[in-house]
Amino acid sequence: MAEFVGAVDQGTTSTRFMIFDHSGNEVGRHQLEHEQILPQAGWVEHNPVEIWERTSAVIQTGLNKTGLSASDLVALGITNQRETAVVWNRRTGRPLYNAIVWQDTRTDRIATALDKDGRGDVIRQKAGLPPATYFSGGKIQWILENVDGARELAESGDAIFGNTDTWLIWQLTGGVNGGVHVTDPTNASRTMLMNLETLDWDDELLGFFDIPRSMLPEIKPSSCPGGYGTTLTNGPFGGEVLITGDLGDQQTATVGQVCFAPGEAKNTYGTGNFMLLNTGTELVRSKAGLLTTVGYKFGDEPVVYCLEGSIAVTGSAIQWLRDQLGIISGASESETLARQVEDNGGVYFVPAFSGLFAPYWRSDARGAIVGLSRYNTNAHLARAALEAICYQSRDVAEAMEKDSGVHLEVLKVDGGVTANELCMQIQADVLGVPVSRPVVAETTALGAAYAAGLAVGFWKNTDELRTNWNESKQWTPEWSEDQRDAGYAQWKKAVTRTLDWVD
Ligand code: G3P
Repeated sequence: MAEFVGAVDQGTTSTRFMIFDHSGNEVGRHQLEHEQILPQAGWVEHNPVEIWERTSAVIQTGLNKTGLSASDLVALGITNQRETAVVWNRRTGRPLYNAIVWQDTRTDRIATALDKDGRGDVIRQKAGLPPATYFSGGKIQWILENVDGARELAESGDAIFGNTDTWLIWQLTGGVNGGVHVTDPTNASRTMLMNLETLDWDDELLGFFDIPRSMLPEIKPSSCPGGYGTTLTNGPFGGEVLITGDLGDQQTATVGQVCFAPGEAKNTYGTGNFMLLNTGTELVRSKAGLLTTVGYKFGDEPVVYCLEGSIAVTGSAIQWLRDQLGIISGASESETLARQVEDNGGVYFVPAFSGLFAPYWRSDARGAIVGLSRYNTNAHLARAALEAICYQSRDVAEAMEKDSGVHLEVLKVDGGVTANELCMQIQADVLGVPVSRPVVAETTALGAAYAAGLAVGFWKNTDELRTNWNESKQWTPEWSEDQRDAGYAQWKKAVTRTLDWVD
């Protein structure tokens, strides 16, 4: 009898396949990175074919490692880096262009133009998003305008769009031989093309980007009892598994952290940071620079919305210390290096490499390291990088409090950077609230498994999922109020130094 749920987590830097049991414990996993293609400053691409190959490989190896097979899985959930846009030919299966990644800023002019004639406000109202390079709409428009033959293929219905969830589900369910073209409202809510109230593609928004409706996938619930489709017996599973869960990765982390009640929030520390606050069935429009987004839609139940603070560069600032500056040889060394000093020695590092996302939304910003004196060392810079992760999260937490009136009592955290104990202590210090990490820190994949398992009755309801959540560690604030206020004031000053940098 099948007793496990599978989850594919297709992220920005890697793809992993994980298997969970009924208690939400990990049974096995495999993970592979894919290439980050950086053709010019500000451009970030992935090869969709490589992503599909890596996905197949992690599924096969994950199953082999555990000795499990398709028949041991009750269902499969898919979660993905959001916004990253793939356009492919449904007849040949070939992508028309590389996937344009969420971090890519090439659509700056498309995004800026939207705010010159009032279209931006319509997007804010209908889609809950500020016009920005971050979201998929402009990326699809760019492909249609810049890739030879793309517009004709789109008009004839042969070129279709998807985020990587849609691309993988299409491949897993048959590809050119009848693959299903589907997504869920969480992913669709990141395109600037979906109306948050109707949960359907909006013709006015499609018109802004000149995108034919026929390119877009069908929007089905994030936890889908009938399933979107079944994996092929000659595919990586070697058998049929019903795919019943599909959500963007930050939304699955929210589900994995069991933030099912309004007022509950989580912060995920990955390449970037993403704080999501459950606002229930109420659609809260942000006045403070946050996004309104779909949290999840489980079956026929009403949709649940979230407020989101997205930060583009957090963990990737540590990668930058490693890969570009060479001052550390691995991510964990950022902690040992930063521990060599008591404080930041006056140094503030604002890693605005993709401009600044929430709550600033300034694509003209670029990174800055300020406050340097001859006294400073690599250790101060490492400490400043960790502080930057935490101060950016404070910026977002403040915006959330303004928008929702909800004061965080405790911050639930997850993601790779939460292994950095010093960073988590600084986070508690900078926020002035305790920070709590669960036992299963892979909440992204876990949330995808939860969505898939709920759909087939493997888990009865969200209350049952709550009992699976256990804390592994909590950090409590140690700084005085004065220290906290002074540090934050300096951070805000440092942020001002990054603005108006690009014309
Ligand atoms: O919005 C972008 C986000 O979904 C990317 O998450 O974990 O793949 O860096 P991650």
